Amino acid sequence: MEKPFVTIENVSKIFQTRNRSSIAALKDINMQFGKGGFVSIVGPSGCGKSTIIRMIDDIIKPTAGAITVDGFTYDNNVPISKERVQKMGFIFQAPNLYPWFTVKQNVMLPLKIYGKHSQEYDEVADRLLDSVNMLGYADAYPAEISGGMSQRIGVIRGMVHEPEILMMDEPYGALDESTREQLNMELLKIWKDTGMTIIFITHNVEEAVLLSERVYVMESHPGRIVAEINIEFDQPRTLGLLTEEKFGRYCMEIENLIGKIDLSKVK
Ligand SMILES: Nc1ncnc2c1ncn2[C@@H]1O[C@H](COP(=O)(O)OP(=O)(O)OP(=O)(O)O)[C@@H](O)[C@H]1O
Ligand SMILES: [Mg+2]
Repeated sequence: MEKPFVTIENVSKIFQTRNRSSIAALKDINMQFGKGGFVSIVGPSGCGKSTIIRMIDDIIKPTAGAITVDGFTYDNNVPISKERVQKMGFIFQAPNLYPWFTVKQNVMLPLKIYGKHSQEYDEVADRLLDSVNMLGYADAYPAEISGGMSQRIGVIRGMVHEPEILMMDEPYGALDESTREQLNMELLKIWKDTGMTIIFITHNVEEAVLLSERVYVMESHPGRIVAEINIEFDQPRTLGLLTEEKFGRYCMEIENLIGKIDLSKVK
């Protein structure tokens, strides 16, 4: 395997709570993400998925272990530089649009924060707006658009500064199935066009299988990786895969792994 772009090495995270008890959120996590790859993370609520990507962004510090991105290693003592953070994009479950900015101003916010003003980025913003059928709403305010539309704006805002690494944390929260599918196909196209490295968190196993080249399956208490599954389908992926037998087998394999996790929790 060629040298990974993002490596998580022996990372553990213990959170101290207010009543002084501690939560072992993650234990001995090892992950690798190749440059330009598309990898998903699935697992039950609370297994530490969001914590992992917040550590890649260096918002949360690991208690033990280290993270390496593009050859630079950071950990509990060594922080990541601002320049490197700018190469990352985040898409959260809640779109968190600012009500006093228009749709387009919201999309362009990362450019403003990172000081990237240019005609070129303005065009990127328009192209992304167009890709999610929102160009006609560029000058509308968040209060004037639907919840699903806000979600779409949240998704494209995470990629407007053309990050090298895009981390998506259950980005489609309240979206209906068909909009999700449409956005996923758009995402695959953007992924192919840009060569971005995508780390995708989802509860939806079918979505993980459809989109990714590899899926990490996690378990909770403490959060750890229980399986790593290569999804061997040709590119480009299409919605037609959903009806293939092999697709169903992958989904079942992952669902069984997650099912086992739930059973052991009950015990
Ligand atoms: N800032 C924090 N302080 C204390 N505990 C935290 C903090 N952030 C997360 N945790 C705990 O760490 C564990 C993992 O949380 P995390 O948000 O990473 O889970 P998740 O897999 O993203 O869950 P979900 O699927 O519900 O989003 C949980 O037990 C959570 O309560
Ligand atoms: Mg989460």
